[in-house]
Amino acid sequence: MTALTRNTHFCPGETWLDTDGKPIQAHGGGVLYENGTYYWFGENKDNDTRNERIDIIGVSCYSSRDLLNWKNEGVVLPAVQDDLQHDLHPGKVAERPKVIYNRTTKTYVMWLHVDSADYLAARAGVAVSDKVTGPYTYLGSIRPNNRDSRDMTLFQDDDGRAYLIHSSDWNSVTLISDLTDDYLSTTGHYSRQFDHEIKNTGRESPALFKHEGRYFIITSGTTGWFPNAAEYAAADSIHGPWRVIGNPCVGDNAALTFHSQDTFVLPVADKPGKFIFMADRWNKDDLRDSRYVWLPLEVNGEQLTLKWSDSWSLNEL
Ligand code: DGJ
Repeated sequence: MTALTRNTHFCPGETWLDTDGKPIQAHGGGVLYENGTYYWFGENKDNDTRNERIDIIGVSCYSSRDLLNWKNEGVVLPAVQDDLQHDLHPGKVAERPKVIYNRTTKTYVMWLHVDSADYLAARAGVAVSDKVTGPYTYLGSIRPNNRDSRDMTLFQDDDGRAYLIHSSDWNSVTLISDLTDDYLSTTGHYSRQFDHEIKNTGRESPALFKHEGRYFIITSGTTGWFPNAAEYAAADSIHGPWRVIGNPCVGDNAALTFHSQDTFVLPVADKPGKFIFMADRWNKDDLRDSRYVWLPLEVNGEQLTLKWSDSWSLNEL
């Protein structure tokens, strides 16, 4: 079957169509790579925005071999319609899903930020599947380290250990929490990073990656759906000490992260040292039409540089 749409370039900020010709619904997303295929998981926001939020539809998955043309694999963790108490009831919040594979248990493990409509529940939910494209079975949610947990990501290290990185203490601090060997819970061991001490002045949207033994984290400030300046830090050990370096963006609109908010840093599989910065350009009045901003991320020693490009391809990396 011939794909309806053939994308040849990354066009940040433009509507990005899947292979059926429909706008990709994978906001706040992350990517898992396996055997030549990338799997992009994210929030499906394909319904009407109300008061800057939408009813949960679920977590979408798309697959691609070239990072440009994405096949819709469906909603792999759907909303739960008929149980008002359920974390995934449509009236609640489910954001920033990330998936990693546990080689020991042969299980795909998804964590996501689950919340009440007013964002006061602030929990981390976990779901599992034995197939990358799901369906995922929801296991429940926790308040990691007995604290609130909002924006989050996962990071799997070379040694198989995995971490939940999440905003906590009312978005004043970033916690790096060790996951148990099966990745289904936190161990209770964690470190506190970037402590801003005052509610809602810390960092959101953590994206953590590693290059040549050095860890990097990119975060945003805390301005809801509005863009702000990204900041990055580097460390030799995942629990720090972390050195805050600054904004990786340069050029026009650098102070607004090119009108976007980071969500993930994607290592390009066959190009060691080449990374793609993945971000969301939120449209708070019509969240389903929030666009994606993917840009080449240059890594040079401890320095990260992100420049705007209207259109680019992997050959330019
Ligand atoms: C900022 C977060 O990064 C987003 O994921 C979302 O929760 C919005 N806040 C909601 O205002």
